[in-house]
Amino acid sequence: MGSIRRTPPSFVALPLLCLLAVANAGDPYLFFEWHVTYGTISPLGVPQQGILVNGQFPGPEINSTSNNNIVVNVFNEIDEPLLFTWAGIQQRKNSWQDGTPGTMCPILPGQNYTYQFQVKDQIGSYIYFPTTALHRASGGMGMIKVHSRELIPVPFDNPTEEHSILLGDWYNKGHKTLKRILDSGRSIGKPDGIQINGKSAKVGDAAVEPLVTVEAGKTYRLRVCNVGMKLTVNFRIQGHAMKLVEMEGSHTVQNVYDSMDIHVGQCMSVLVTFDQTPKDYYFVTSSRFFKQVLTSVATIRYVNGNGPASPELPPPPPENSGGIAWSINQFRSFRWNLTASAARPNPQGSYHYGQINITRTIKLSNSRQVVDGKLRFAVNGISHVDGQTPFKLAEYFGKAKQVFKYDLVKDEAEQGDHKVVVAPSVKNATFRNFVEIIFENKEKSVQTWHLDGYSFFAVAIEAGTWTPEKRKNYNLLDAVSRHTIQVYPNSWAAVMTTLDNAGMWNLRSEMRERAYLGQQFYFSVVSPELSLRDEYNLPVGQELCGVVKDLPRLALYT
Ligand SMILES: *[C@@H]1O[C@H](CO)[C@@H](O)[C@H](O)[C@H]1NC(C)=O
Ligand SMILES: *[C@@H]1O[C@H](CO)[C@@H](O)[C@H](O)[C@H]1NC(C)=O
Ligand SMILES: *[C@@H]1O[C@H](CO)[C@@H](O)[C@H](O)[C@H]1NC(C)=O
Ligand SMILES: *[C@@H]1O[C@H](CO)[C@@H](O)[C@H](O)[C@H]1NC(C)=O
Ligand SMILES: *[C@@H]1O[C@H](CO)[C@@H](O)[C@H](O)[C@H]1NC(C)=O
Repeated sequence: MGSIRRTPPSFVALPLLCLLAVANAGDPYLFFEWHVTYGTISPLGVPQQGILVNGQFPGPEINSTSNNNIVVNVFNEIDEPLLFTWAGIQQRKNSWQDGTPGTMCPILPGQNYTYQFQVKDQIGSYIYFPTTALHRASGGMGMIKVHSRELIPVPFDNPTEEHSILLGDWYNKGHKTLKRILDSGRSIGKPDGIQINGKSAKVGDAAVEPLVTVEAGKTYRLRVCNVGMKLTVNFRIQGHAMKLVEMEGSHTVQNVYDSMDIHVGQCMSVLVTFDQTPKDYYFVTSSRFFKQVLTSVATIRYVNGNGPASPELPPPPPENSGGIAWSINQFRSFRWNLTASAARPNPQGSYHYGQINITRTIKLSNSRQVVDGKLRFAVNGISHVDGQTPFKLAEYFGKAKQVFKYDLVKDEAEQGDHKVVVAPSVKNATFRNFVEIIFENKEKSVQTWHLDGYSFFAVAIEAGTWTPEKRKNYNLLDAVSRHTIQVYPNSWAAVMTTLDNAGMWNLRSEMRERAYLGQQFYFSVVSPELSLRDEYNLPVGQELCGVVKDLPRLALYT
């Protein structure tokens, strides 16, 4: 099982350290020490080299409360450069710690780096994962929980317990082999199965350890995230309904569902009351919108229960017309609870996003093309590549011209077939613009997109082609504020946000194969006033690399 160190992810409330220049004084600190190693894992029963954090797969949880300062000292003990991102954690003024190759120099093998960030004004369920190479295919991911502060009411009773469930498609090949396949210009093809918290089972498999043990009559919160590489999945529990209460940092209207579609990179919390005959029940996860249905089950066990789970699994959602209409309807049922408190005491509903004038419309279209014999994925015809110098550092030190060109990705894709351009891709955004982003998917597979540094209002998903008239179908009242959005085949999705968080922010496909082969770019959001009010200076001791490696450090903002 790899080298397990005697360094559990401890957290200690220590007095403020002066090196924590960017953190907010007064808010508590949580300290973590992570050792990242290789070790053998067998999510689908086949032993392979996995990426472990403190000996664990999935990695240890970060359990925090709104406004906590999180300090994670990461020791890279694998043989490749490494970075972690904290997807959905907004990193106000602080893209320095976002952990994407466009913002930070990688942690080299044998070295360590201490991330410092604040979960400012956020609540909810998020994931961290490695952004380097194709590392997520081997592990390194885990749950970030952000609880509401005391005194801030939560719109449901305290559950008896909480459980984190990281699930998704899985490949038995491991990241090195998969990366070689992509580097050679081919696709990694279809996943081998579905894993649930690092394990998989079929109906009737000899008693495996239960995923969750419950007491009859009690209510539990399940925080579920899709950490797969490619596929949308659906999860459901035999004989039990699920009440949706939270989605990527927003308290939702509490509808009850028999099953939930969850797209790659998404997280949600459901409450389940275990009020059935005490015995075992299956928690079922199956792939969606995919020729071959991959299914895996896990056991939910009642304490003092009597008997195995029934072999009859609850059916997946209907697959007629591809199951897409069902899934779009489910998306439309997700609403923000306007009367529930968010991380701050002021009511969420006081933010009337529907009344703000749109200052810019950006239409993004995904594509797949073989370029010079190699498979690439693109956004508006541009297929992104990372360079030796993180774009954030190049821009900060005035060296952007040596590293990338701004705005290769236009606000609208050109019509017709064009050869995809492979280049570093940074899009210039204007600080505080209220933007509308339309994702258009003319491909045959479902996409999921994610934006770092922000949450956005997911106002619409529809089949067909977007036109300005479609704006009258937007949910301008209670769309969920979140950080990912799915786009079905031959469909579009619209989101809105205010670009008020200065920094260099990754907008990417959540499908790791697509992101690795170019389906991503960065938004450069610069505050024209160069003010510390809007963005932190380069952190003291931040690693420099590429063309800025030996430049004198400057404090640009005052
Ligand atoms: C996580 O944090 C919450 C709030 O501080 C606390 O109640 C809970 O016991 C913690 N859970 C774990 C597993 O540490
Ligand atoms: C590396 O870890 C050591 C020991 O914990 C710590 O003192 C040092 O600050 C860390 N270095 C970085 C760059 O975070
Ligand atoms: C929204 O939150 C409020 C306040 O906590 C709660 O009373 C109400 O039941 C919630 N509404 C819905 C529809 O979930
Ligand atoms: C939005 O635009 C309209 C028409 O240009 C203008 O009348 C209105 O004042 C603007 N609203 C805001 C909140 O700026
Ligand atoms: C980005 O756009 C703003 C506003 O259009 C402009 O003032 C600025 O010069 C642009 N920056 C770059 C680096 O292109």
